[in-house]
Amino acid sequence: MQVIASLEELTKARQNWPRAGSLGFVPTMGYLHRGHLSLAQQARTENATVVASIFVNPTQFGPNEDLARYPRDLPRDLALLEGAGVDVVFTPEASAMYPPGFATYVEPTGTLAERLEAATRPGHFRGVATVVSKLFLLVGPDRAYFGQKDAQQVAIIRRMIADLNLPVDLRVMPIVREADGLAMSSRNAYLNPEQRVAATILSRALEAGRVAFDQQRNAGSTSPEAIAQVRKAMERALASESLAALDYADVCHPDTFVPLDAPTAPALLAIAAKVGPARLIDNYLLRADGSWDVGVRVGK
Ligand code: PAJ
Repeated sequence: MQVIASLEELTKARQNWPRAGSLGFVPTMGYLHRGHLSLAQQARTENATVVASIFVNPTQFGPNEDLARYPRDLPRDLALLEGAGVDVVFTPEASAMYPPGFATYVEPTGTLAERLEAATRPGHFRGVATVVSKLFLLVGPDRAYFGQKDAQQVAIIRRMIADLNLPVDLRVMPIVREADGLAMSSRNAYLNPEQRVAATILSRALEAGRVAFDQQRNAGSTSPEAIAQVRKAMERALASESLAALDYADVCHPDTFVPLDAPTAPALLAIAAKVGPARLIDNYLLRADGSWDVGVRVGK
């Protein structure tokens, strides 16, 4: 496995990658867990060459967010990526990605870039869209692998690929969960044991939302009141855990993030809450064919 930090070296290395066969790319911010590794493993099965990046991207963090304390462990990450069969890891410095005078951003707009995560984290998706564009241009992938865990990020990147005519096939992998349902996240490292138990309330609230959604759907409800009931089911569940503070519980279209006015497929149940020092997000996806993607639980 080749580890490349400089942009020039990456450009040089690209000339040596196999010309035949596709290139798969897995962008990450490191401190890897089995969610990240599921993307690398899928990329390995579908491509001749697999490139991963580890870059804690400063432009997607707000001034009061956790950039400085975001967890990092490069030696461990490299060992995990090597184990997953990754060929090249790109680990640029912030000063190389954003040199003095940097002034050009990719700015998502519209509902998708205004609601939920965007509302709580102004500028976040501008930072994500900018760095993902830069990484796509540097790496030149045929396929890029993202996790459904960050549902709004997926929708933003899908929109960006279409809007900018980027020649990249977006592959989205299911949420990987701990055995007790907690979605894996680098930020779970912020939780103490008590908060770690409490954090399961996000997936339990989504489960309550799914049950309510299916009830309304099976009853043939078509009114906005049906959606309000689903939201309330999630809010009630979340309120039962005193260590968690709800940010939002939402029912929207998974591509546009426009709120739904009836319990129809496709749909996204999205939730965000603070548990102690960690702001956590999670979601359940109702696919267009009417089946649920609730992610996959893995054992200890
Ligand atoms: P990061 O949070 O490190 O996540 C990297 C990728 O792993 C994202 O596509 C994310 O959705 C996916 N992922 C995280 N947790 C997952 C889980 N439990 N199951 C499945 N996939 C999971 O997302 C980012 O970094 C950044 O915004 C990035 C795209 C790298 C741009 O800076």
